[in-house]
Amino acid sequence: MVDDQDIETDSIRFSDAAALVTTLKPSYPVYCFRPHKIRAVVQHFIETFPGKVVYAVKCNIEPRMLSWVSEAGVTAFDTASLTEIAAVRKQLPDADALFMHPVKSRASILAADQVYDVSTYCVDSMAELEKVLQVAKRRDLKIFVRVATPRSKATFELSAKFGATQTEAIEILDRVAKERMQAGIAFHIGSQCINPRAFRTAFAVISDVWRATKAEVREIDVGSGFPVAYAGQSVPPLEDFVKEIVEGRRETGIDEDVALLCEPGRALVADGCSMLCQVYLRKGNKLYLNDGLYGNLSEPYWARIRLPARLIRAKNEIHKTNNAPLQDFTIFGPTCDGNDFLPTPFRLPHDVREGDWIEVGQIGAYGAALSTKFNGFFTNVQVELSDEPPPTG
Ligand SMILES: Cc1ncc(COP(=O)(O)O)c(C=O)c1O
Repeated sequence: MVDDQDIETDSIRFSDAAALVTTLKPSYPVYCFRPHKIRAVVQHFIETFPGKVVYAVKCNIEPRMLSWVSEAGVTAFDTASLTEIAAVRKQLPDADALFMHPVKSRASILAADQVYDVSTYCVDSMAELEKVLQVAKRRDLKIFVRVATPRSKATFELSAKFGATQTEAIEILDRVAKERMQAGIAFHIGSQCINPRAFRTAFAVISDVWRATKAEVREIDVGSGFPVAYAGQSVPPLEDFVKEIVEGRRETGIDEDVALLCEPGRALVADGCSMLCQVYLRKGNKLYLNDGLYGNLSEPYWARIRLPARLIRAKNEIHKTNNAPLQDFTIFGPTCDGNDFLPTPFRLPHDVREGDWIEVGQIGAYGAALSTKFNGFFTNVQVELSDEPPPTG
């Protein structure tokens, strides 16, 4: 694997995956970016959200991704580790890096403060606030206090791990006020939430805190949860979520001039990337690919979603698949591990065979971020495509 992956692809661009296959015939998985798609999605989000859009770097930290997100208008980045802060500082020195992980090591706070000039932190406990106050030397800090919100219809709930109770949040914010630091309130309804009402419910929770604290809270970070329309899922448009946020704020009487922030990741980058995989073996309706659960295709496992997939053959062979009936295939990854299969099938032409390529869409969020080098399989080949991604159908 390593030999044939060892090519420099920074500037390699193709019109589409078929052109890529025709030229490179890659036996290794190829990570495909669609910069036009990424820019368009990010720009739409910025135009629709009534506040500052802060990109959650955890979803996709690839340097080129950070650049395209920035080019589309994002000026601030939600980071959770020194690695993420360093990536932002290196790629985008003028952008703001916010340290939004509610639990941080003392060493990382020290480096964020002393090396990377970070001034915005998130906490969800008094102990964490004390830690930040003790370690950070600068006094012009902005502290967001993260509040736990009720269970929503999110695929990934976050409030079991993070978030202060209302009482705790009021105490922490009061302490921030005593230190004469800027105060904000943050929450996160959970990733891939298909229920816009969850934002209204969250506003009801944080408005009590907003009213009761002595701190003058001028910013509310509504986190994320903005969903992606994965195959077969019915997902309300972004506008519906924004409506609930705006009405949630109005209904709870939070001042109109309290600024809103959000930290989307999944909704910004999922659709803009795909994986080009090759079929190593077909056994009946089982396909063995060169990428899988331990690589870039783990989201079907974690999020129980179905990813769009399309068969790719070299240009002169395309006509042969045009009218082939479709069927479901179970997908196995390249490792020698029994768990390396996807829980949801790919729907592909019935005549898929060894050596064919399959382009898998919607893997831009958490795909590469969660990929491992297990069993010696990994991909580091990246290209740019200019066509539309595989349809979600
Ligand atoms: C603090 C924080 N911000 C933003 C995100 C991104 O959320 P999403 O996946 O809903 O875009 C997460 C995801 O877990 C998070 O923990």
